[in-house]
Amino acid sequence: MLPSKLRQWTSLAILAIGLAPMRPLWASAQQSTVVCLSDFAWMNNSIGQDPCLVAAFVLGACTGGQFLVPSLDSGFTYGGPFISMATPCECNTITYNLMAACSICQNRAYITWSSWSTNCSMTYPGVYPEDIPSGTAIPHWAYQDVTVCHISCYHSFGVQTVIENR
Ligand SMILES: *[C@@H]1O[C@H](CO)[C@@H](O)[C@H](O)[C@H]1NC(C)=O
Ligand SMILES: *[C@@H]1O[C@H](CO)[C@@H](O)[C@H](O)[C@H]1NC(C)=O
Repeated sequence: MLPSKLRQWTSLAILAIGLAPMRPLWASAQQSTVVCLSDFAWMNNSIGQDPCLVAAFVLGACTGGQFLVPSLDSGFTYGGPFISMATPCECNTITYNLMAACSICQNRAYITWSSWSTNCSMTYPGVYPEDIPSGTAIPHWAYQDVTVCHISCYHSFGVQTVIENR
């Protein structure tokens, strides 16, 4: 993607009040600036990466391999994909679950799957439609299909319980 495209996307993101931009990063590695609270260590994958960093990997598979997941300020949520960026990497429930968990581990709110997927012409429930990028692993709970289990899947992966108890 060209720098002009990036600028356009960034300014659109700024217009979306209350939605924090997630952006491709033109550097050499997946990154997250989030520090998850220690209560949410169970969200880490089998190689000790928190959901924000795993999300950076799975989002990066459609942007040439690089993606930055920024931390969320209070009152903000991560937005779903813009129309021009509604790739299979964003339009699946694995990525959505990881971004919801990434919000929760910072004690921030998250948008519903139906909001997240508004701009997706095709959605991929319960699957990650690309090859899993090397250097990461997807935690089991992220495979819960939120289009089927709704609240119960959050119970089964613990997120709902964590929200209620915090
Ligand atoms: C979870 O992941 C974060 C970030 O990668 C790391 O700092 C933390 O030590 C990990 N915790 C566990 C229990 O793996
Ligand atoms: C859908 O995309 C448009 C522009 O492409 C953007 O303004 C809007 O915020 C997006 N919707 C969601 C839910 O992300």
